Parts: sequence; structure tokens; C-alpha cells
Amino acid sequence: NKGNYEHYMQKEIHEQPASLTTTMRGRLIRGGSCKAKTVLLGGLKDHLKTIRRSRRIVFVGCGTSYNAALAARPIVEELSGIPVTMEIASDLLDRQGLIYREDTAVFVSQSGETADTFQALEYAKENGALCVGITNTVGSAIARKTDCGVHINAGCEIGVASTKAYTSQIVVMAMLALAVGDDTISSQQRREAIIDGLLDLPNKVREVLKLDKDMKDLAKLLMNEQSLLVFGRGYNYATALECALKVKEVALMHSEGILAGEMKHGPLALVDENLPILVIATHDACFSKQQSVIQQLHARKGHLIVMCSRGEAAAVGLGGSCRVIEVPQVEDCLQPVINIIPLQLLAYHLTILRGFNVDQPRNLAKSVTTQ
Ligand code: F6R
Repeated sequence: NKGNYEHYMQKEIHEQPASLTTTMRGRLIRGGSCKAKTVLLGGLKDHLKTIRRSRRIVFVGCGTSYNAALAARPIVEELSGIPVTMEIASDLLDRQGLIYREDTAVFVSQSGETADTFQALEYAKENGALCVGITNTVGSAIARKTDCGVHINAGCEIGVASTKAYTSQIVVMAMLALAVGDDTISSQQRREAIIDGLLDLPNKVREVLKLDKDMKDLAKLLMNEQSLLVFGRGYNYATALECALKVKEVALMHSEGILAGEMKHGPLALVDENLPILVIATHDACFSKQQSVIQQLHARKGHLIVMCSRGEAAAVGLGGSCRVIEVPQVEDCLQPVINIIPLQLLAYHLTILRGFNVDQPRNLAKSVTTQ
């Protein structure tokens, strides 16, 4: 049932304040006056000790689920103090990459049925790793085969392009970071800021959804382009990859997410006055580096669109010479949840304007059960 919406993808994008609320329900404990706020993930509680003792956390997934894990990687590393490595499921299998008994392998999958992710899970189990599932489908193959896990509870996702599951996956992995990390005095302020940020996230998502019309206008400007580059770094490298994936898969437009730190190692050669480039430059520890990327792209006459924190348009907007998308600022590790939403809207509107099927993109299936 699409309710008042024309398409499932549109409905699922706009549903995110509610889906995120459901994802967090019962899992964030506010705590009394003298008790710190905390996180409770029932499916993990008997395994937290083992996870804390592991030498490495390996995130495994495909497509959007991989991108969600990439978005959460920095906060998991920061709070757990355990190195996190990333694996695209098919690549782990192709390489027969090393997995050890001392590893915790985390399998991220909306459907819980993706063949590559499932086989990577069987492989990691054979190698003795503790296997954790993060899925949206109770009783799915991955949920059953893993040793423990967390359901993302985003509700049924029908559009082939994953939208609300992506943001809920990031939130679950941020909660996982809080659950695994030690509740030390030195980390308390940061932990509380993240928990407060999580609790307020649905409100901030509601705010950012108001950019719908702006994103439609931007889509009108971009609809006849051949290609769109997206630059991100730090917490928002994943946002760049995920934006490009959405634009490719539904709008059928070439798009590439680029790690901004790699700009001078090749991509800069593509820059001219025609190719549109979206730069994600919301305020975090990488902000000044992103400002310098913007300056350098501008110096080469790049056709820029910049996403920045609200109130910072002047700091990044090159004196009004480029288009700016202003978004509400949240705790840095949660910013990817906010930043992807206007870009999901952009991909949606581009698709409609270009006349393609947004819920059933050409050649794609919702769950990829074959290799
Ligand atoms: C993109 C998309 C795919 C899936 C991928 C993994 O919008 O939906 O990239 O994310 O096929 O699927 P799951 O998460 O079900 O394992």
C-alpha cells in the first residue's frame, strides 16, 4: 500500500522518521538523574564479552548494506577500540580472504537472503569467527545462520532501491558501537551526545525531508547530464558511494562516489566546467580539508553543488557561485543518516523526470539470491 505516495521508493524515503523510531524503540535507555544513558541490544547481550575480546571486526555486505557498514565503521572503531575492516561479500569469497577465530564478522543485509553475503557467512563460520547478523527480515537465512544479531526493524521495504533500510542499518551499527564500547568516564560525554543525537534523529530527518522541492529543482537542472561525481570523506565517504549507487541504479545515470582525499590521484583530471560535481562538506573534523577540495575544484572551473551544515553556506558557497544544499547538523557519526536523505530524494526525482521505473529499476531484483 503506497498510501498518499505515487511510488514505494518515495513512500519509504518519507517514512524514515518513523522507521528510525522503530529501529531505536526499547533499545536506548534514557537513565535516571544519576544513571548514565545506555544502549540495550537484546540479541547481542550474551556475546558482548566475546565481541570486546575480538582482535578485529569485519563488516561484510553488498551494495547499499556495504555502504551502511562503511558509514558506521569510524564510530565502531572509535568506541570499541577494535580495528574494523570492510569486505564486499563476493570479494571476500573470490580471494578466500583471511578470517580468524579471534574475529567478529558482522553480516549486514536488508533481505537477509543475499547469496554472496550468505556464502561469506558460511565461510566465516567454517573459519571459526563469531558471526553477527544485522538484517531487516526475521527468520531470513542470514538471521538464522548467524550466532547472534540485531534486527533493524525498519519495516518491509518494497522499492528495489534500499532507502529506509540504509538509515536504519547505520543507526543499528551506531548502537552496536555504543554497546561494544566501554562505558568509561573519558568516553561518557561522547556516548551521551550520540545517544541524545539518536533520540533526536527522527526530528532532524523530518526537517531534512523538507528539502524535497529543492531536490526536485536540482534534479531538473541535472536530468540531462551524462554523469555526476560525488565527493565525500570521513563519515561521509559512504554517503558519496551511496548517492552514486542510487543515481546509477534508479535514474540510470552514470555516477561515481569518490573519496575526496584521492582527488589529486586521478579524478581531478575529469574536472571541467560541464561535469556536475556534488561535494559533501557538512561540519566535522574533515571540514577544512573539504573546504580546500572545494577551492581546488572551483579553481578548475568545476560545476559544483555543495552540501553543507545549515548556516555555513557562506563558508563553502564560493560567494554564491555554486548551488548549496543546507542540512541540519547532528553528531558527526550520525550525519550520514541526514546527508543521504536529500540525495535519495534527488535520485528519486531524477528518475521520475528521466521517465524510468523507480520501484523496479531495469535489470535489478530486490533480493539477489544467485551469484
Ligand atoms: C541498492 C540495493 C542493493 C542491495 C544489495 C544487498 O539500493 O538495494 O545494493 O543493498 O543487493 O542487499 P541486502 O541488503 O538485501 O543483502
